[in-house]
Amino acid sequence: MTALVAASRSGYFTCFCGPTPCGGALSSVYVVAGCLIALAFALARLFEDVPLQKKSNRKMSCCYVCRSICLSGCILSMLPSLIEKTMTTHTIRTLESGDYEYVSSVVDEWWGGRPVRALVHRIFFDHLNATSYAIGPSDAVQAFLIGFVSQSKPNIAYIHFVGVTPAARADGLARMLYEHFFNVVGARGCTEVHSITSVVNTASIAFHRKLGFTLLPGSGEIDGLPVALNYAGEGQHRVRFHKSL
Ligand SMILES: CC(C)(COP(=O)(O)OP(=O)(O)OC[C@H]1O[C@@H](n2cnc3c(N)ncnc32)[C@H](O)[C@@H]1OP(=O)(O)O)[C@@H](O)C(=O)NCCC(=O)NCCS
Repeated sequence: MTALVAASRSGYFTCFCGPTPCGGALSSVYVVAGCLIALAFALARLFEDVPLQKKSNRKMSCCYVCRSICLSGCILSMLPSLIEKTMTTHTIRTLESGDYEYVSSVVDEWWGGRPVRALVHRIFFDHLNATSYAIGPSDAVQAFLIGFVSQSKPNIAYIHFVGVTPAARADGLARMLYEHFFNVVGARGCTEVHSITSVVNTASIAFHRKLGFTLLPGSGEIDGLPVALNYAGEGQHRVRFHKSL
C-alpha cells in the first residue's frame, strides 16, 4: 500500500490487482482512496465474499473495478480546478476615478521598470473615462485600457494605454479590452483605431500586430521598424499603429 501511495503521489499509478497491470498518469488523493476501495474489493474477492467475476463474462475482473474507481477519482480531482476556471469570469467595467491610486502605483512595475507613471494621468480616470475600461476591483486592477474618440477626427479612436498585471498575461485580457473598445467606438461611428508604443516595447508591437494593427510609415527607421522620430519629444521615437474597423 505504501508503494501505491508513493506511486500515486509521484503522479503515476499502476494497479496490479488484476491479472495484468493497468495504469495511467494519475495523481490525486482520490487515486489513493480508489486503491483502498479496490483493495477491499480484492480482499473480498480473495475470500469470495464478493462475486466480482461474472461467469458469463470472464473479463469482468477486479482490475476493471479499480480502473473505474481510479478514473472516477481522477475526474473528481479535476473538478475543483475546472469549477475554479469556469468561475473566473473576467468582467469588463468602466475605468473609474477610484482606480487611479492603484493603477498609477503599479504601472512602472508592469512596464518592466520603465517610468511611465507620469503618462497615466488622473484626468483620464476623472474626465476622459467614457471609453476606458478595467478588469478587477479598484484595489487590485488586473488590466486596464485608456482610450478615447478623437475630438478633432471623430472617425478615429485612440488607445493611449493598455496594461495587464504580469500574473495575468497571455490569458487574453488585453485582447478582451481591445475588442470591447473596438465594439464601443465602432458603434459610435469610428472607422479607425490608432495607438503608439516605444520602439523598445517589442511585446506591445507583437501584441498589436496580433490584433490586426499595421505599422504606419514613419520619418525614420530603427531596427527595421518605421518610427516617427521625436514623436513624443527630443529622442522619444514612437512606432505608430493603425487598424481599420
Ligand atoms: C502587451 C500586453 C498588454 C499584452 O497583454 P496580454 O493580456 O498578455 O495579451 P493577450 O493575452 O490578450 O494576447 C493577445 C494576443 O497577443 C499576443 N501577445 C501578447 N503579448 C505578446 C508578446 N509579448 N509577444 C508575442 N505575442 C504576444 C498573444 O499571443 C495573443 O495572440 P493570440 O490571441 O493569437 O493567442 C501586456 O504584455 C502588458 O501589459 N505589457 C506591459 C505594458 C505594455 O507594454 N503595454 C502596451 C503599450 S501601451
